[in-house]
Amino acid sequence: MFAFLLPLFSFLLFSTTTTTSAQPYKPTDYFLLNCGGATTTSNRKWDTDERSKFMPSTTSFTSTPNKRDPSIPEIPYSSARIFNTSSFTYTFRVTSGPKFLRLYFYPATYSGHQANQSFFSVSSNGYSLLSNFSAFLTASYLGTQLVGSPPVPNIIKEFIIYVKPTQSLNVTFTPSPNSYAFINGIEIVSLPENLYYKSKDLNYVGQTSGPMITEDTSLENIYRLNVGGSQISSKDDTGMYRSWDQDDRYLLSAIGLTPVNMTPIVYTADTPNYTAPELVYATQRSMGNQSELYNLTWLLPVDSGFYYNFRLHFCNIIPQYTRQGAVLFRIFINNHTAEERADLFYWTQGTGYPVFKDYVIFVNDFDGSRRKQDLWLAIGPNRDKSEQYHDAFLNGLEVFKLSLFNGSLAGPNPELQPTPPSPPPPSPTGKKKTPPYAAIIGGIGGALVLMLSVLGFIVFRRVKHSGDKSDEQKSKDFGLPSGRCRRFTIQEVKDATREFDETRVIGRGGFGMVYIGYIDNDTTAVAIKRLNALSKQGFHEFQTEIGLLSKLRHVQLVSLIGYCDDEGEMVLVYDYMSNGTLQDHLYKGKNPHLPWKRRLEICIGAAKGLHYLHTGANRAIIHRDVKSTNILLDENFVAKVADFGLSKLGPKEKGVDYVNTTVKGTLGYLDPEYYKYQQLTEKSDVYSFGAVLLEVLCSRPVIINRGVPDEEMNLAEWGRKNYGKGTLHEIVDKRISDEIAPNCLMKFGEVANSCLRMKGSKRPKMDEVVWRLEFALQLQEAVEKMDGEVSGDMKGGSGMSGNQEFMFPVKEEDVSVVEEYEYNYELEGTSTGVGIQHGLTSTDGSSHEVFVSETVLPR
Ligand SMILES: *[C@@H]1O[C@H](CO)[C@@H](O)[C@H](O)[C@H]1NC(C)=O
Ligand SMILES: *[C@@H]1O[C@H](CO)[C@@H](O)[C@H](O)[C@H]1NC(C)=O
Ligand SMILES: *[C@@H]1O[C@H](CO)[C@@H](O)[C@H](O)[C@H]1NC(C)=O
Ligand SMILES: *[C@@H]1O[C@H](CO)[C@@H](O)[C@H](O)[C@H]1NC(C)=O
Ligand SMILES: *[C@@H]1O[C@H](CO)[C@@H](O)[C@H](O)[C@H]1NC(C)=O
Ligand SMILES: *[C@@H]1O[C@H](CO)[C@@H](O)[C@H](O)[C@H]1NC(C)=O
Ligand SMILES: *[C@@H]1O[C@H](CO)[C@@H](O)[C@H](O)[C@H]1NC(C)=O
Ligand SMILES: *[C@@H]1O[C@H](CO)[C@@H](O)[C@H](O)[C@H]1NC(C)=O
Ligand SMILES: *[C@@H]1O[C@H](CO)[C@@H](O)[C@H](O)[C@H]1NC(C)=O
Repeated sequence: MFAFLLPLFSFLLFSTTTTTSAQPYKPTDYFLLNCGGATTTSNRKWDTDERSKFMPSTTSFTSTPNKRDPSIPEIPYSSARIFNTSSFTYTFRVTSGPKFLRLYFYPATYSGHQANQSFFSVSSNGYSLLSNFSAFLTASYLGTQLVGSPPVPNIIKEFIIYVKPTQSLNVTFTPSPNSYAFINGIEIVSLPENLYYKSKDLNYVGQTSGPMITEDTSLENIYRLNVGGSQISSKDDTGMYRSWDQDDRYLLSAIGLTPVNMTPIVYTADTPNYTAPELVYATQRSMGNQSELYNLTWLLPVDSGFYYNFRLHFCNIIPQYTRQGAVLFRIFINNHTAEERADLFYWTQGTGYPVFKDYVIFVNDFDGSRRKQDLWLAIGPNRDKSEQYHDAFLNGLEVFKLSLFNGSLAGPNPELQPTPPSPPPPSPTGKKKTPPYAAIIGGIGGALVLMLSVLGFIVFRRVKHSGDKSDEQKSKDFGLPSGRCRRFTIQEVKDATREFDETRVIGRGGFGMVYIGYIDNDTTAVAIKRLNALSKQGFHEFQTEIGLLSKLRHVQLVSLIGYCDDEGEMVLVYDYMSNGTLQDHLYKGKNPHLPWKRRLEICIGAAKGLHYLHTGANRAIIHRDVKSTNILLDENFVAKVADFGLSKLGPKEKGVDYVNTTVKGTLGYLDPEYYKYQQLTEKSDVYSFGAVLLEVLCSRPVIINRGVPDEEMNLAEWGRKNYGKGTLHEIVDKRISDEIAPNCLMKFGEVANSCLRMKGSKRPKMDEVVWRLEFALQLQEAVEKMDGEVSGDMKGGSGMSGNQEFMFPVKEEDVSVVEEYEYNYELEGTSTGVGIQHGLTSTDGSSHEVFVSETVLPR
């Protein structure tokens, strides 16, 4: 079965000293402090921190540990700086950009202060890196809890902080009450701007979108593994002093094969030569041409309640693998499929050169304890018939924890004796030290020979904590507003808008005027929303909105830059969106009409934004006012959901999926169920979004109350009726009806129809809306690719291959109650008018407060 690997035997020697073609990266900032010790050189030059320019004051003292473990280097571990009175800050003047911050700890008794008495917090530039941290507990945990790991005397914590222009890098140690803090060494190394930040290709696993890694994110490296290879020490890294560990202690069962490459690694523009050392790409763990059904699985304990970025490094080193489609494999992270058909040759345009992929996953915190959970990474052959070999392989792995919205990376201390949390308790075999085969690999793997270690399966039964089933569970409140939201003075706001000049008005909302303004010496255009003092939205809501919004960052949401609350003014400052509202491009305004594909992309983008609102934070956020004027378009027509003035936090209690609230929203978009029962759910946003979809398709307002037959007044109802009769194509915007592929229209209609169902529980969740719309886009693209010519036949529910089910004809639950319901409304105190809401049954005739925005004109 493994015969094809035989040629590799002839290259048994693999030397770590092969000449490397990679030029190391040259860091612009580099500090290495031997805290509490002297300037000295031991493989690298360490500077003393004594009287150095980094230390502002002297509320600390130096000490030496009572013992020294022979397995750890002398520098920096034979001295420490101790803080037992107050907090203490090191300040490093560095250039802007991302920096590695590495903290070296050796828990021991220092001047009579016992190791188990030390608890402290570490923060840096507004990020909370460690909180009530015990180096002693952490080291003990690492030494006992992992299968096959040796005792761990020392700990190195690695963070990445993005230093903004004009900032310095500060590191503050704060002892917990009646405790002390200590540090043995500090290292700061800059890294290439694009190595871990600004990645365009984050793949979200188990959800369709999530946080991006921006300058406001700090990272902690949790694992960095040279999969299938030996330990790579920091000096053999590509100039950034990262060290790469062996992966075998994290393997769940099968060891697989560890082939080694013989030829130099060729780096590319997408994978520059500093990405990872050649040694990482030259070794891998693979399965061989597998006839057995199994996965290669790694278990990686992490703190729960955080997002993690998995960076998987691949490079083809098996000479037999030469083309696209020869080896296809699946990648699973926490049992979610991250890739169904991973194909290295496809990713690298047929070359098989090094490449890496980033996968972001959220690790749910089920009981609010933030305790450690095993993250599962598994790979296995796809077993597609076209596959030549049934193999799967991985060369390197980096796992990063992403800071929370409030800038925190800190998890709790590990529990040494796992309190029997949930049944069943860990079985004794899970605690065994080095498994026999891993020891063999480790032994021979040191530096010289890593060859076919064909070992079937070693199964250590690891018993998992239970209760991991539900995917979406939000149990925690938001933290306090972060310091990342900028506060403007009223003068700055006035300067930016030329004293709220009328000509600067770009929008009028229910809550006040929106102006275009220019800040930062006129370099940056922003949208400035000045809340009407008469608005019912009080100061409290204003603050809630700031608190909520300052934590939300997503490419599909308009971001809040700052606010001003001077002199009784309530002003919010947002990113300026140069292409205005979606509605402006549909039927209001004089813009050229949007092509159908662009419309689809906008819908997908907005749906992703809403999905993020619903699931991205600890508690769901319900927008409550989704409409085409609240979807803005940037200069590239990327859709951004805006105006969270009415947003509500979702339910707090478990098992409840609505919040009680007075009805607010906009006629024509308002969820009838919400209107009836005043119970707001995420599905109310889904309804409104369904109305937007029809607006996009038909290019007309959701309510037309003059000049059209009654049945056409309400678009939601008109659209569903036509969908039901199979005549949706008749109401499509004439300007684009020739562009739309019939299958795509069917799919799109189906999505809109399902969003607009009367019963919230029958409507899809936003992530489902996203992928169904994406599917519609694929249908459109497939047809465009085939002939660029779309047939005129828009009827019929067929034309789709295979397993697609169409709601055709409509089911009973889809038939809306056609009733017209009139009521009076008040528009911000002054004008009054009449609005119409269709599809509603009036329950008790009582009048509800309905907020009506500018989309409906008074009759
Ligand atoms: C490595 O990358 C750097 C920066 O792009 C470049 O200057 C250098 O020539 C590269 N080295 C090799 C061997 O490609
Ligand atoms: C801090 O430690 C020093 C040296 O061990 C000791 O003299 C001093 O009393 C300690 N201060 C506090 C507040 O514990
Ligand atoms: C801390 O460690 C010392 C020995 O180093 C031990 O005597 C003491 O009981 C420990 N304290 C706690 C609270 O575990
Ligand atoms: C770092 O500390 C210096 C001096 O203590 C202070 O002036 C500066 O504002 C701090 N910078 C950051 C980013 O916290
Ligand atoms: C710090 O952690 C220790 C052990 O995890 C705990 O006993 C102690 O109460 C914590 N202290 C604070 C201030 O949270
Ligand atoms: C790979 O293995 C499968 C069965 O396990 C076999 O049918 C196939 O021929 C093998 N491919 C090669 C190229 O050896
Ligand atoms: C591989 O792992 C995935 C995800 O846990 C699982 O669904 C699949 O059944 C596994 N395959 C095998 C052959 O065990
Ligand atoms: C993944 O699936 C395995 C069984 O296939 C299960 O034991 C494990 O708990 C699952 N992991 C997660 C994180 O759900
Ligand atoms: C950040 O938020 C998390 C979870 O909401 C919370 O546990 C933590 O204490 C917060 N940290 C800070 C520094 O506010």
